[in-house]
Amino acid sequence: MRIIGTGSALPKKIVTNEMLSEFLDTSDEWITTRTGITSRHVISDERLEDLGAEAAMKALDMAGLGVEDIDLFIVSNVVSEHITPGMSCVVAEIIGLNCPMFDINCACPGFIYALDMAEAYYKAGKAKNVLIACIEEPTRMTSWQDRSTCVLFGDGAGAVVLTAGDNIKGTKLKAQPDTDKLFMRRVLESTPYINKAESDIPLQMRGREVFRFAVEACTHGVKSLLDEVGIKKEDVSWFMVHQANKRIIDSIIDFMQVPADRLPVNIQDHGNSSSASCPILLDECNRKGMFKEGDIIVLSAFGAGLLSGAAVLEW
Ligand code: COA
Repeated sequence: MRIIGTGSALPKKIVTNEMLSEFLDTSDEWITTRTGITSRHVISDERLEDLGAEAAMKALDMAGLGVEDIDLFIVSNVVSEHITPGMSCVVAEIIGLNCPMFDINCACPGFIYALDMAEAYYKAGKAKNVLIACIEEPTRMTSWQDRSTCVLFGDGAGAVVLTAGDNIKGTKLKAQPDTDKLFMRRVLESTPYINKAESDIPLQMRGREVFRFAVEACTHGVKSLLDEVGIKKEDVSWFMVHQANKRIIDSIIDFMQVPADRLPVNIQDHGNSSSASCPILLDECNRKGMFKEGDIIVLSAFGAGLLSGAAVLEW
């Protein structure tokens, strides 16, 4: 496949580190030095699905396609107020899309998982034009009393449109199932046989272990994928790495021995927006005109699961 349109949408409320330090025992200095984040977009009076619809329409506009041209709609979403139907149906109703559609919940690497699925549908002859939208509000997953998690996240949506082409050079997905390092749990309704005795658990994270997993998953995942597709890291124009923490990105630069200016960073303005992080970064760089035809772009993301994935594209 080939990406022919990108789009993104952000909540209008910007929350700075100073604003957080008004109600949390934290500081701009701590957050900036430990994470590289200075502000993030946080959903307030918007609806998540409207951000998803906006990102999707921008990607369709750039692609020059209408909703009637799309054969498959894949949405990556971890939480929303809609347990069922999925976010794909909720967004499709807004934009008037009626092709087959489904949601995936693969946490932060959701965009790479969705690219891999789009390519598989295309190769199987089941779809030619695919819309992917990653629509996330992790700020509704954390406890805003927990300074070790809520300072890290921001909300947003990113989308791409793909069509026939030979520009996805390879994808590599990996799972190391471990559900205790990064998780959120919700208690379901009581039944005559189950009493709802427990409470919901907001996002919990073993920060240092997740940090180590992220660096290892990205460096090994990208290296093995590049070996598989026969592309040298020196020939990669851009490494688009999941924006979880600037220190994670710096460690990846050190381990992979690649020039820092080939890893675009926007975490300072966004925080970690889960699976929306990669397509938002892709859209920002694309709209700045950073990509030239023929550029080799590597995408890499990692997160809860523990899942990770990498993709190599030719622009
Ligand atoms: N402000 C001030 N202090 C804070 C704080 C905050 N927002 N959050 C935590 N602290 C404190 C801790 O309570 C701890 O205090 P103590 O030493 O008195 O117990 C101290 O800072 C160090 O905490 P620690 O967790 O060891 O810090 P760290 O250097 O590992 O940084 C993270 C914490 C979360 C920034 C870092 O581990 C990280 O980024 N991990 C990966 C997270 C991630 O990217 N997750 C998503 C992946 S998709």
